[in-house]
Amino acid sequence: MGMQVAFTDYGARIVSVLVPDKAGNLRDVVLGFNSIQEYLQADEQYHGATIGRFANRIANGHFHLDDEKYTLQQNNGSNCLHGGPTGFHAKVWDRRTSFKKKIDFCYVSPDGEGGFPGNLKVTVSYELTEDNEIVIKYKAETDKKTVINLTNHAYFNLDGEGQGDVLSHILQLPSDHFLPIDENQIPLDRETPVDGTVFDFRLPKKIVEDINKDEEQLRRGNGYDHTLVNHQPISQVAASAYSPDSGIRLEVFTTEPGIQLYTGNFLSGKDIGKSGRKYASRSAFCFETQHYPDSPNHLQFPSVILEPSQVFESETIYKFSVKKLP
Ligand code: GAL
Repeated sequence: MGMQVAFTDYGARIVSVLVPDKAGNLRDVVLGFNSIQEYLQADEQYHGATIGRFANRIANGHFHLDDEKYTLQQNNGSNCLHGGPTGFHAKVWDRRTSFKKKIDFCYVSPDGEGGFPGNLKVTVSYELTEDNEIVIKYKAETDKKTVINLTNHAYFNLDGEGQGDVLSHILQLPSDHFLPIDENQIPLDRETPVDGTVFDFRLPKKIVEDINKDEEQLRRGNGYDHTLVNHQPISQVAASAYSPDSGIRLEVFTTEPGIQLYTGNFLSGKDIGKSGRKYASRSAFCFETQHYPDSPNHLQFPSVILEPSQVFESETIYKFSVKKLP
């Protein structure tokens, strides 16, 4: 049986992802709401959304480009998070083409929007394949030198949205380095080996195994909320998750150099989801494929600069399957 995906042009969001489980029943593995009003009033604003212009945090809401200082809106303590309060998640995108298995969303962000330079034309295209993959392609062009970091913020629960926490999900990521963060969740300058740390997912590991350890990095993120460094080409799995209960497995493939592993630590329980259940802390996880947080302020990180002469392109695939048990 094939999967089904639904979108909204509000934030170019994934609204639902129905995937067959090991019994052949469809489960909706992405958190979200039944009405646009609920998205507008939600406590958590990023459900399933396209995030831009700059995914994750920019420290103190400012950065320099060619000696010019740019000031952004602060919406996460002193940080600018996910492009600021009126980032791409809060825009109504144009739906330009719509085939049965493909949908394109376009948005033109005017020069200076959210404090970022350049008129930025962005296209996010979603395609559903015969192999139960959602292929997401991002493309952008600017008329002035700028910075860009795009991702999707789907919250996954492979037992189905509203079906409790994800602590018994088993994750595997080949990353051998992660980015430690400071008290404001800004990455420190160094990529750190995962060896001997709670961030070692090179062998399959349940989320619950280490997440409640009394460890400084976990305290700073309130759980996992960290970038794992990705060196895999798009043909190789960069991250995977599996729920033994449903038998559903998610594999992620990406051109991006980082994956933000976020275990929904700040989900407050205030939002009531599609099936009428509360979205509490750790009731979902995200694999946000992206460049490193706060890159404009860390020149040694992979570059997030986009020049008018360039075309920004990025691709991420979320692939679903049912894992056959031995
Ligand atoms: C994540 C971020 C979390 C939290 C969340 C939105 O990408 O890493 O710290 O802000 O978005 O609630």
